[in-house]
Amino acid sequence: MTGVTRRGFVAGTSAAVAAGWLSGAAGTAWADTGTPPPDEDGSRLWLRYPLVADRRLLDEYRRDLRYVVAPDTDGPLGSAAGELSRALTSLLGRDVPIRRKVDGAGPLVLRTAASDAGPESYTLRRGRVDGTAAVIITGGADRGALYGAFHLLRLVQTHVTLDRLDVAERPRNPLRLANHWDNLDGSVERGYAGRSVFGFAELPELTERHSTYARALASVGLNGTVINNVNANAQFIAPEMLFKLQPLAALLRGWGISLYLSLNFASPMILGGLTTADPFDAGVKDWWRTKITEIYRAIPDLGGFLVKADSEGQPGPISYGRTHADGANLIAEAAAPHGGIVMWRAFVHDFNALEWSNKAYETFKPLDGKFADNAIVQIKNGPIDFQVREPAHPLFGALPNTNAMMELQVTQEYTGQSTHLCYLVPQWQEVYGFDTHAEGSGTTVAKIISGRTYGRELGGVAGVMNLGDDTDWTRHQLAAANTHGYGRLAWNPGLKARDIAEEWTRQTFGNDQREVAVITGLLLGSWQTYLDYTNPLGVSFLIKGDHFTPSPQTNTGWHQADAEGTGFDRTVATGNGFTGFYHRPVSDRFENLSDCPDELLLFLHHVPYGHRLKSGKTVIQHVYDSHFDGAAEVGRMRDRWRELRGRIDAKRWADTAERFDRHREQAILWRDTIAGYYFAASRVLDERRSWVQVTPTGNAAICLIGGRENLVRLSLANASAAEAELVAGLPERDGWTSGTAGLVLPSKGDGTVDVPVTPSLPPQVLTLRPTLRSGDLPALIAEQPVITAPAGEHCLLAVDAGSASSPLLDGYRRLSPADAWADGAAYGWVGGAPQSRDRNIAAPLLRDFVNDTRARALRLTVPAGDHELHVLVGDVHDSFPTTVKVDGKVAAVSEFLLGGSFTWLNFAVPGGRTVELEFSSVPGQHWHLNGLVILS
Ligand code: GCU
Repeated sequence: MTGVTRRGFVAGTSAAVAAGWLSGAAGTAWADTGTPPPDEDGSRLWLRYPLVADRRLLDEYRRDLRYVVAPDTDGPLGSAAGELSRALTSLLGRDVPIRRKVDGAGPLVLRTAASDAGPESYTLRRGRVDGTAAVIITGGADRGALYGAFHLLRLVQTHVTLDRLDVAERPRNPLRLANHWDNLDGSVERGYAGRSVFGFAELPELTERHSTYARALASVGLNGTVINNVNANAQFIAPEMLFKLQPLAALLRGWGISLYLSLNFASPMILGGLTTADPFDAGVKDWWRTKITEIYRAIPDLGGFLVKADSEGQPGPISYGRTHADGANLIAEAAAPHGGIVMWRAFVHDFNALEWSNKAYETFKPLDGKFADNAIVQIKNGPIDFQVREPAHPLFGALPNTNAMMELQVTQEYTGQSTHLCYLVPQWQEVYGFDTHAEGSGTTVAKIISGRTYGRELGGVAGVMNLGDDTDWTRHQLAAANTHGYGRLAWNPGLKARDIAEEWTRQTFGNDQREVAVITGLLLGSWQTYLDYTNPLGVSFLIKGDHFTPSPQTNTGWHQADAEGTGFDRTVATGNGFTGFYHRPVSDRFENLSDCPDELLLFLHHVPYGHRLKSGKTVIQHVYDSHFDGAAEVGRMRDRWRELRGRIDAKRWADTAERFDRHREQAILWRDTIAGYYFAASRVLDERRSWVQVTPTGNAAICLIGGRENLVRLSLANASAAEAELVAGLPERDGWTSGTAGLVLPSKGDGTVDVPVTPSLPPQVLTLRPTLRSGDLPALIAEQPVITAPAGEHCLLAVDAGSASSPLLDGYRRLSPADAWADGAAYGWVGGAPQSRDRNIAAPLLRDFVNDTRARALRLTVPAGDHELHVLVGDVHDSFPTTVKVDGKVAAVSEFLLGGSFTWLNFAVPGGRTVELEFSSVPGQHWHLNGLVILS
């Protein structure tokens, strides 16, 4: 990219301002005058078209791009012409109209011509049209022309001269899709930027946001979008919904984007009233054939379908004794006459750490060659679930006779959500570039999924999106770089991360050299930094159920840290056999400790803390160093952003500065939690640092009683070479009162203290951040998850649900399966009793619960007046969502909770009568009920 100085030029002409959608002038000019550019809200993403601030380039562009020549047509070619005209008018600060033919100097000619490189290819060249020198965009077909138009705009936005214009491009992947995990109610599973961008409830009405969405996808070459969650609601293919989706499909079509839908495999039962969803049942086949025909009547160019089956509680073919291929082929066959495809997800697993890495491979490998031609297996980048680092999925290169595509996660479920900056392009490139050796050296994942390795027409990539209805789309302004980078890599995985990051920065913020250098640097280093202070050496799942908060206690099975060592043995020789799924020499490299790459060491091997890495450090010292260095680096990232103050518009600068403040806090929490955990486990002192630390006592949340004094037990340890005196305390927050407790510990010693605390009354789920003082020694502080339950004497209703005999929380009444409803009772089951479980942990309210896979109803006498009912849900094991209905209407649904997490569901109930509470979960899974409370 050419760097040009634009000193002394102050941007902003009346023509540019009059263009209306102009988003402020370029950075340098403003920075040089010391005044920040006008505020922006991020809503235009990288499709900002501010006046070109470089005088020389502006003159050049104005000379060569006077008007657009394009046929009078709609569809992608028409969209391309419109985008060029509007964008150039804004970028060049004067009207760039659309004409039908060349008439005068400076035409930008947009046209199509069939090409060997395919309909999505394009060239950008200089040439003569009707005797006039012209800049010519030639698309292999309409979509190609659209992508060419966006390429030209990129050049202008990033200040590249068009002097020697000679571009020939074609996409490497046939399918380049966005996957949205958006629900019918507007919520977004693993969405961290607000609610769904589609506004399902308001459809068929469309807004400007829908257009911006489509333009943004098209601008980076994406050609399809699956608009609803893989945990699919069957209503998406109900007739009313199809009607509502038509205008959206039409809008997307105009930008070269095909609409796809996620299907619920049990739709024939849910929508059709059939008694089975068995793929071999003639009625089921008929139902799908008719339904899919109806869908294509509504949306004739629908791309096809995505299915998550027999995974995490979703229905599928396995329950009927059929295979995943049978399931996929059922849909594929019905879609084939309409030119549709089915993407069938390979994400099947047990919630069991031992099995998880192996299940998808073991399930799908034997099915190779059994899938229909219009079916494609969609495989996550790694064998687990979008962890910070995983080896490439062993299914890549294991299915030579099956169409395969890759699924990446753009939304940062496990990589800091919208709080941490984590630019994932380097992570994705590592996977694309992974050499499977399936057909000899050079059989990269990129090559396999493009279809080239096995000569398959279908192939490509899907990215689980990070967009929401927040004004800036991604909540963290810099997270939109992931959206952009995903698309650019889908187009060409061979692009350089630096170039992609720089391009996005210039488009999004401006061409000021300093700004570009700082932001590009922040993006490029951020994944490695995130790895450093979170999950070193390939360990995964060091988090709580929110997939955000550090908690190595929650899922110890994944890192297997004990007194001697850590890591997950996935070798053939002594572990779960996973390394054997790879082709040679990859399998050997992974199997042999001495060859195993450091960055995957703990993913593949269990090693002693003193094991030496290739870097020469021991594993434990690496854990300490990477966490301290990583967290310190986040502090420097924050400072580098702060130095940009005044160069970037105040609004986006301040929004992002706030994100960096939170990012830094969280990085320190990660550092303290993980370094502290590993010291507590290993008792190996850090060679470079000394500290004292406080860690939670167990892996589950503790339960405190609101409105009474409790003692909170904290584990303290001395990670210094000398004896130390430690004083621990708890914060006084929102009406809480607390004290302190102290302890003297020898070097490497540990012990517990009981700190008094009186929480406020209302039920809460929160984390307590203890304090710790010990002279001048720094303190590592891990947070303690806490559930509070109001003292029974302050409640109208205080119920501890569970078995008929386990201990009750003081002041709470028992609810067990034995409590059947009787007239005049306070509560009781109607229409059948549920089950119960007792996990035998310390906290009476948390240790047991009532549960069932069937929906069960509890009748409850609610005292007069309006009340809020609080329902406690959770388990020491993972729990699927619990849905609570009040008199038949859904009042609350809990999220999927990983083991040891609990949540209070709060909702209003009418008083002065009985209400019927119905508890249910997803099919085949248990709902949970641990407690019920109404405050007085
Ligand atoms: C992850 C994620 C779920 C999602 C699942 C999937 O486990 O946490 O929310 O449904 O992946 O990809 O199907």
